[in-house]
Amino acid sequence: MGERERWGTRVGLILAMAGNAVGLGNFLRFPVQAASNGGGAFMIPYFICFLLLGIPMMWVEWSIGRHGGVRNHSSTPGMMERIWDHPAAKYIGVMGLWGPLVVMTYYTYIESWSLGYTFFTGLGSYWGAAEFEPMVAFLRSYHGYSGLDLTAPGVGDVGITYFTSILPAYAFFIITLVVNIWILSKGVSGGIETIAKIAMPTLFVFAIVLVIRVLTLGTPDPALPDYSIATGMGFVWNPVPAALTSSSVWLAAAGQVFFTLSLGLGSIHCYASYLREKDDIALTGLTTAATNEFAEVVLGGTLAIPAAVAFFGLERTQELAGNGFDLAFAVMPTLFQQIPGGQLFGSLWFGLLFFAGITSSLAMGQPVMAFLQDEYGMTRQRAAIVLGGIVFALCQPVILFNQQGFLGEFDFWAGTFGLVLLATIEIILFAWVFGMDKGWQALTAGADMKVPIVFRYIIQFVTPAMLLVILGTWLFGTLPPVLANEPSALYPTGPVPEYIPFINAARLTMLALFVGLCGMVAYAWRNRSLEA
Ligand code: PHE
Repeated sequence: MGERERWGTRVGLILAMAGNAVGLGNFLRFPVQAASNGGGAFMIPYFICFLLLGIPMMWVEWSIGRHGGVRNHSSTPGMMERIWDHPAAKYIGVMGLWGPLVVMTYYTYIESWSLGYTFFTGLGSYWGAAEFEPMVAFLRSYHGYSGLDLTAPGVGDVGITYFTSILPAYAFFIITLVVNIWILSKGVSGGIETIAKIAMPTLFVFAIVLVIRVLTLGTPDPALPDYSIATGMGFVWNPVPAALTSSSVWLAAAGQVFFTLSLGLGSIHCYASYLREKDDIALTGLTTAATNEFAEVVLGGTLAIPAAVAFFGLERTQELAGNGFDLAFAVMPTLFQQIPGGQLFGSLWFGLLFFAGITSSLAMGQPVMAFLQDEYGMTRQRAAIVLGGIVFALCQPVILFNQQGFLGEFDFWAGTFGLVLLATIEIILFAWVFGMDKGWQALTAGADMKVPIVFRYIIQFVTPAMLLVILGTWLFGTLPPVLANEPSALYPTGPVPEYIPFINAARLTMLALFVGLCGMVAYAWRNRSLEA
């Protein structure tokens, strides 16, 4: 094992951390969550969760990360043991390997769609079919869905060519994965930081150009005055206090705050571990969170929804946004075909998604890289190949059985529930087991800002209490119907009976991965104690 890796510069660190947080969550997930939870109705719970869960957890994860890194652990199994001296601690830390690995698997696949669509849009491959139906068919055909009627009226007669196999999607995925693995093999400062310095400024430029374009759309059809940017902006921005009593809106808001800030996955810890003992984390962590919120609320909130409202009206937009990826990959392509320069703006939109995505998928790969390097003594190149192999294998069912629910299952268990679970456990360990005196010290050492003392109490009481309530709602409200194959948050009308074997296979795959990773941790720890 050589020298520990480090970030090159402070600016580089901030860009890498911002790149970690700013991702598909900001531009894809946020608009969908906001639109399907009532727009402005979502914003008050969202901001409260940002203040009481997001910022405190961000600080906790930076603290655990730097604390572990200084002690030669850049992944959570070792880090957890450093704050809780107990044999079980390392297995809790396994969640910080399992989570990012599962999420990386489907996230890289979605990222690869953006890459594909950047080209299809730039080349005008779907031009001439400026309606939602053919654009959805185009998307489903790209995903290799079976049972599509590509000859239906309004779909088959619009004159565009649909995909007849999954191969193009597969090819773009391979390219995306190889690029990710190649960057990771170049290391923290040589790979991740270098890419962040290029991708982040580019992403902001793309986003700002697109925001200006969207804001100048006005009312595209004067005969339909309600189909306007103003209506869309009003929908996102006018807070609706009534939603404060809806527990599902709160859960959605908390889930979004977690996902967008990359919390509860071991990823922030990992990036923070490449700092030195006296480097600031308080101000830098806050800056990252603030940058992410700017990208999410101001940029992400101004793009997809208002644009869709201007062309489809409010009601239809809410309905269309309800279906996961359709807003970004089917609604937006419809709009691009109706505005001058649409091919260019459309490529910018998908290019933006790709850049946002890649700086985040790297952040999901690095915890496993770090684990293999620190605990198995692998070289970076070797670790990158092992990681690439695992993600490649896990991705096969996600690509081939996306329609049957693999992607949705991975996203639900690892990308939604998993975050809450790890976050709840780690904040209790941090504030109550490690203890708030040491915890406060871990956060404020070397700080370039004075952390308001009220956050000490928030971290100790408010955040854990909120998380326990959220976790309880999950365990006793959300999960039972999902596990019983009843209508649930995941399958509003219950799962399709023929898909149930695939759904079970997806769950077993995740379980097997978890057990396998526990085994790897046990093995590494046993060898270490034999050496010692
Ligand atoms: N925060 C990223 C996004 O908004 C996702 C992410 C989660 C990245 C966890 C790294 C780790 O897309």
